[in-house]
Amino acid sequence: MTRNDSAHHALSVRVRDLDLWYGQFQALKSISLDIYQNNITALIGPSGCGKSSFLRCLNRMNDLIPRVRIEGLVEMGGRDVNAAKVDEVALRRRVGMVFQKPNPFPKSIHDNVAYAPRMHDIVSRKADVKALVESSLRDAGLWEEVKDKLHQPGTSLSGGQQQRLCIARAIAVQPEVILMDEPTSSLDPISTATIEDLMDRLKRRYTIITVTHNMQQAARIADYTAFFHLGEMIEYNDTKTMFSTPHTRKAEDYITGRYG
Ligand SMILES: Nc1ncnc2c1ncn2[C@@H]1O[C@H](COP(=O)(O)OP(=O)(O)O)[C@@H](O)[C@H]1O
Ligand SMILES: [Mg+2]
Repeated sequence: MTRNDSAHHALSVRVRDLDLWYGQFQALKSISLDIYQNNITALIGPSGCGKSSFLRCLNRMNDLIPRVRIEGLVEMGGRDVNAAKVDEVALRRRVGMVFQKPNPFPKSIHDNVAYAPRMHDIVSRKADVKALVESSLRDAGLWEEVKDKLHQPGTSLSGGQQQRLCIARAIAVQPEVILMDEPTSSLDPISTATIEDLMDRLKRRYTIITVTHNMQQAARIADYTAFFHLGEMIEYNDTKTMFSTPHTRKAEDYITGRYG
């Protein structure tokens, strides 16, 4: 069912007793889970159950939202991401993010990819920038389609191409983890299949955590699946088990479409 024929079980992200409040409202309730390197982990569950809030805890994007309070532990590569000494800019280098709606910068295709590596001083020499832009676009499966128009705006591409450009932009800084929040829900089926294939290739080098509303997609691409409901993580399992013999009634009801 999943394409995972060579599971790795090295720990990438360790979350313990994670709580999150927006003002008085508790959106995440004591979440604990281990996310494994070089796997795809899918987060599923009804709208509003806390999937995006959870993803934002991993790169501290919630810090940007007023009246948020977070308690608990998030460790990435053995380091507490909320430790006072962790610099957010450095953290965002370690954790790439891809959103539902492709959001290229209002810059050329080339500069969309080159911007972050230059900012983080990963490359500066012109030849190195050029090589990194090419390799990132190749890894995102976009190079052949854009190599002759690198100086056109990123926004001139189709939706599916823009999403691959955003993936190229994310991997250009060689993050440890890539977060994807419903990366294909605005795309047509062919672009969706292209992105799914890409994710399957990228997991050899990156740890991918993705949110999806598409059960078939989770079943196709994820090695592990976590089911969230009303701010709690109800079940976390290898994808095959989750979709064949879920251990909880709530997960079973959701997966079989009885609600959600
Ligand atoms: N910035 C915010 N301020 C207040 N409440 C929020 C904010 N973002 C999300 N929420 C609430 O937190 C809950 C979880 O939201 P979210 O993490 O976006 O869920 P999901 O991604 O699973 O749809 C929802 O009830 C939502 O309304
Ligand atoms: Mg969401």
